[in-house]
Amino acid sequence: MNHVIEVENLTKIYGRPGAGVLAVDHLNFEVRQGEIFGFLGPNGAGKTTTQRMLTTLLEPSEGRILIHGHELAHDAYPAKRMIGLVPEESNVYTELTAWDNLMFTASLYRVPRAERAARAQELLETFGLWEKRDVKAENFSKGMRRRLSIAMAIIHKPALLFLDEPTPGLDAQSIRSIWELIRRMNAEGTTIFLSTHQIEEANQLCERVAIISHGKVAAIDTPERLKANFRRVQSVEVAFEGEMAEKSPGLESLPGVTTQAKVGDKIRLYTEDPSALLSRLIQYAESHALRVVSLNTLGPSLEDVFLEITGGQVGAVGNGSQEDKPAKRGMGGRK
Ligand SMILES: Nc1ncnc2c1ncn2[C@@H]1O[C@H](COP(=O)(O)OP(=O)(O)OP(=O)(O)O)[C@@H](O)[C@H]1O
Ligand SMILES: [Mg+2]
Repeated sequence: MNHVIEVENLTKIYGRPGAGVLAVDHLNFEVRQGEIFGFLGPNGAGKTTTQRMLTTLLEPSEGRILIHGHELAHDAYPAKRMIGLVPEESNVYTELTAWDNLMFTASLYRVPRAERAARAQELLETFGLWEKRDVKAENFSKGMRRRLSIAMAIIHKPALLFLDEPTPGLDAQSIRSIWELIRRMNAEGTTIFLSTHQIEEANQLCERVAIISHGKVAAIDTPERLKANFRRVQSVEVAFEGEMAEKSPGLESLPGVTTQAKVGDKIRLYTEDPSALLSRLIQYAESHALRVVSLNTLGPSLEDVFLEITGGQVGAVGNGSQEDKPAKRGMGGRK
């Protein structure tokens, strides 16, 4: 297996050893050539700290990083040339136009002078910013600024692109368009290291995901295999219509229900035996004069896995995203 990134015992302590903050705690992982690798963790988990070390912006307290076989501590230059970085905080120069931002970045990355204009045009067109090329970035929306920031990070055609939370605060359409760009760059051969706390983003984009919690890798696998390891976290989601639909008393105490959560207008009941619960739910609806408007069984979502691993409580999902498609057994729809 060809590894683009290899990390051994990577550790960062901010402040004095012994009295400082242990932000990254002996991480070990590899990123494979050509994959979209997700680094998924809650706020403060150590994502940005790790990414800053991987991109030479921060010195590790301990451990080793190899980028394409070059050890960063001794041989950073070849690694730097093949890396692109979209940082957490915008690095766009707001007083410059989109065009000038790209030309300036191209000069920093030593893109040959003769190639800069063509490359800038290509990127502005791809990122939907060509019409706005002469507008100062201070007049850009957050989504446009984010796209410009990604364009700047790839002006020198890096083989390895780091993105630190590329989509928070953006609307659904902007998020989709950034996901599409990430997929396209990956399809064209760029290996992607994506930090995110958005589970759905990792689920949608990543071939493998490391779940990071308190500076440690708690699990690392494909989203589907992570979910498969949590088969016991199954659930049935039901929506009722009728006078008592809002209250649905006693659902939680139906045999086999471990936890109940309200998800939008639906109720999700966690259980180890969805099949048995389905028939009990039908009986429940009949005896309470409720009409079942939808009923689905769900496998564990990446969110369930994430919450279980990072210490959140399964079922305490609130209105969280529901990324799993209903399982085949699902009985969704009006009857
Ligand atoms: N410059 C710093 N000095 C001291 N402590 C820091 C510094 N930067 C980060 N930390 C601490 O290190 C830990 C990890 O922070 P980091 O920014 O890497 O987390 P993160 O996973 O990127 O979080 P977020 O999702 O909020 O961006 C946190 O406890 C944080 O308070
Ligand atoms: Mg961060």
